[in-house]
Amino acid sequence: MEFDVLVANRRSIRDFAEGVEIPREDIEQMIECALEAPTWKNTETGRYYVVNTPDMVEKVRAEALPEFNQNSTRDAAAYVVTTFEAERSGFERDGNPTNELGNEWGAYDLGLQNQLFILKATELGYDSLIMGIRDVNALRDIFDIPESQHVVAVIALGKRREDMSKPPRKTLEKVAKFL
Ligand SMILES: Cc1cc2nc3c(=O)[nH]c(=O)nc-3n(C[C@H](O)[C@H](O)[C@H](O)COP(=O)(O)O)c2cc1C
Repeated sequence: MEFDVLVANRRSIRDFAEGVEIPREDIEQMIECALEAPTWKNTETGRYYVVNTPDMVEKVRAEALPEFNQNSTRDAAAYVVTTFEAERSGFERDGNPTNELGNEWGAYDLGLQNQLFILKATELGYDSLIMGIRDVNALRDIFDIPESQHVVAVIALGKRREDMSKPPRKTLEKVAKFL
């Protein structure tokens, strides 16, 4: 798919079609694509925790999402929890942060990876919803996520029931300054 078309096709979907299955191999392709992203000193601190079977998807939905995100992802076929190993990206070997952003660099790297992840999902014919509002303790329990990792987003995957309109975007003039 041409890049601009791919970018335009991706939308946050909150109404997934019932009965969709996503094979493990397809999610593996999304993760492999995410791993192509640049990361701080190639530290690659992003980690992915996946459920793609109906019983486990339902468990994550019921136990780890607030009601509005449960409703938005009622018929999602998979959830992918994304985390990063803290205090590596943006840090020196002696454990000190390289600059004032500290662990924000880990979240930055994960965001770069997750963008590729959701664009690959789009290319493979799936839709996604990134969710930042989730129950971190429930996710740690379900997936046994170590304390060394910061839990960031949960990505729901499925197929849209119908096309969505694009939310408005800021103008170039509002966000960019050229000197
Ligand atoms: C870091 C992040 C967290 C988000 N969290 C949620 C969420 O918890 N629930 C939700 O419905 N949408 C969530 N979204 C989706 C945004 O609302 C959506 O990307 C935005 O409205 C633009 O729409 P678009 O993705 O279709 O372009 C999140 C997006 C990002 C990048």
